[in-house]
Amino acid sequence: MFKTPRGTQDILPQDQPAWQHIENTILTLCHRYGFERISTPVFEDTGLFTRTVGEETDIVQKEMYTFKDRGDSEITLRPEGTAPVCRAYIQHGMHNRPQPVKLYYFATIYRYERPQTGRFREHHQFGAEAIGDKDPSLDAEIIHMAWKIFNNLGLKDLTTQLNTIGCPKCRPVYLENLKDFYSSRIHEMCGDCRVRHQRNPLRLLDCKNPVCQSAADSSPRSYDYLCPECGQHFEKLKTYLRILEIPFLLNHRLVRGLDYYTRTVFEVQPEDVGGQSTIGGGGRYDNLIGELGGPPTPAVGFATGLERIMLNMEKQHLLPKSNGGIDIFIAPLDEQAREKGIGLLNILRQEGFSAMMAAGEKSLKAQLRQAGAFSARYVIIIGEEEIKKNSVILKDMATGEQETIPANSLVNSISKRLKGS
Ligand code: HAM
Repeated sequence: MFKTPRGTQDILPQDQPAWQHIENTILTLCHRYGFERISTPVFEDTGLFTRTVGEETDIVQKEMYTFKDRGDSEITLRPEGTAPVCRAYIQHGMHNRPQPVKLYYFATIYRYERPQTGRFREHHQFGAEAIGDKDPSLDAEIIHMAWKIFNNLGLKDLTTQLNTIGCPKCRPVYLENLKDFYSSRIHEMCGDCRVRHQRNPLRLLDCKNPVCQSAADSSPRSYDYLCPECGQHFEKLKTYLRILEIPFLLNHRLVRGLDYYTRTVFEVQPEDVGGQSTIGGGGRYDNLIGELGGPPTPAVGFATGLERIMLNMEKQHLLPKSNGGIDIFIAPLDEQAREKGIGLLNILRQEGFSAMMAAGEKSLKAQLRQAGAFSARYVIIIGEEEIKKNSVILKDMATGEQETIPANSLVNSISKRLKGS
């Protein structure tokens, strides 16, 4: 028997109302914040990700689904959504549009990780990117939007952690200080951190190993090494966040798992912080588009994993249970009634009602049970008597009341009841 591959899952009909609720809440906010939707391919040239996400990151080193296609091209299933959107921005000359260009996406993301609660090999992301302006008010807007999404879904007890990792001008000085700080401690630290010390010292800060973590706690903080421009940007951002009343915590160890960030980085975390708890994260990436060969273009964005939202909503008992069921269920009692029923079904659907008819030969009792299982609001019963009189029996499933009405006034009668017209 085949099953879903490890780290993937089916989203079954009974789970769809919850997904739809989350997507609708997000879509409403995208409209309010002036973001437009973009969709990009599930796979891209591998180089797009190695160049932007960073050769030394876990994603590129261990997690990408990379293969040669039949034409010998190096292909990778997207392990994140920002680089593809930037590729599209360049490819379609979006720098000629009024800036910033504000884009959002819903996308499946592929990472070969060790599956556990909230961590999948295929997961669903919503992401938003504001491309084309370096104004810190855009950083604030992105953080605000992330915050609003979680808030409007009813999620409580979330914290926004904030850091800045400077720019290519000021970061090297910080990195030198970081390396110096770690030099005397590196012999106590894990094997990965010894490599990081040489190749990517910033990553030393987010190692999950307890020994390495305690060293990171007292390490130099990037915001003490900012150049004046990065310093001003950070101060402005904090002012805007205070005006927007978004509570945030400064966390000098927050560096994120992708290398393209400059200045602002942030993550939203639920209270019971565990390894896989981050519900959303993002930051500024002012050099990414330039590095991909586009014109120098500052940008800022974030993404959130829909499975992580779902997990947290489930914990907080916030998931909607049903999609409300169908309007009408037709229960025919013989073949002649079924012929009548199939015509009525068509008319009702054309009028905009959700309607279905029992299939196969079943007793009235069984058909009513089925109507209940589909949460039908009304059942139309058609038997021999009704065919003779060209009428139907209309049963209100909430009250149990039923009345006989002429078949040709059915639409009117249902409209009155369901639409109040
Ligand atoms: P990321 O932090 O790697 O950022 O992923 C964004 C979110 O996706 C995470 O906060 C988490 O909720 C979810 N997520 C990540 N990996 C998994 C997984 N294996 N299973 C389930 N959920 C997961 C990015 O990908 C950046 N592109 C975000 C960004 C947009 N930065 C700027 N613009």
